Amino acid sequence: MKIVLLGPPGSGKGTQAKILSEKLGLKHISTGDLLREETKKETPLSKKIKEILDEGKLISDEFVFEILKQNLPSDNYILDGLPRTVSQAKMLDDMVKIDFIFLIDVEDEFIVERIVNRRMCPKCGRIYNLKTNKPKNDTLCDVCSVPLIQRDDDNEEVVRKRLSEYHNQTEPVLDYYSSRLIRIDGEKPIEEVTQQILSKINRL
Ligand code: AP5
Ligand code: MG
Repeated sequence: MKIVLLGPPGSGKGTQAKILSEKLGLKHISTGDLLREETKKETPLSKKIKEILDEGKLISDEFVFEILKQNLPSDNYILDGLPRTVSQAKMLDDMVKIDFIFLIDVEDEFIVERIVNRRMCPKCGRIYNLKTNKPKNDTLCDVCSVPLIQRDDDNEEVVRKRLSEYHNQTEPVLDYYSSRLIRIDGEKPIEEVTQQILSKINRL
């Protein structure tokens, strides 16, 4: 099974991809996570990528696909955060047949609050929220017990830029997919969002 999760920053793509990948035995491929890994390499290219991420802009389609191809299995995966442009959607269509394309829909007014309160585990990648999805013990990961971190692009100024990139560049992708797109109400609690997705793929 091949699944695509689309949605604005903070809509819950990563949260749902992690839950679904564990429930359904699919590989979770987040292009954002792959790009953040690239920034750790300390090469001129990785510095350039970090600058673009920190500005909240999109990385070029060509580079994103280069990294994607290095990490894409032949089947059974969830793509989190790709495609983000119509040309990425066309490139993906040329490569594979996706079974389910979900939009996790959340209005802008909820996004900033979610993003500034997000924390994540640097070891296992689990995602928390200081208001809606708190770690059990202070600011430590429930599973790894290491201190949680905040992403460099998770501040109000950058998230507003990410949102504007989403509206300008990614919303046309929703029209491109129109008949294939399954809308999910992402403003419901995390478990309910998962149930909505599972019911659409008949895996409740
Ligand atoms: P990426 O890392 O994908 O960032 P994003 O799209 O901005 O999305 P986020 O990861 O911020 O949010 P999310 O939807 O995963 O939400 P989460 O589950 O964490 O990409 C980063 C950057 O990489 C981009 O800006 C771009 O520069 C580049 N990039 C990536 N892919 C690219 C591509 N294809 N082409 C070009 N450039 C690319 O949840 C957020 C918070 O809300 C958490 O605290 C969580 O606990 C909480 N939460 C989740 N669900 C709920 C709920 N239902 N109710 C209440 N709280 C919830
Ligand atoms: Mg994410």
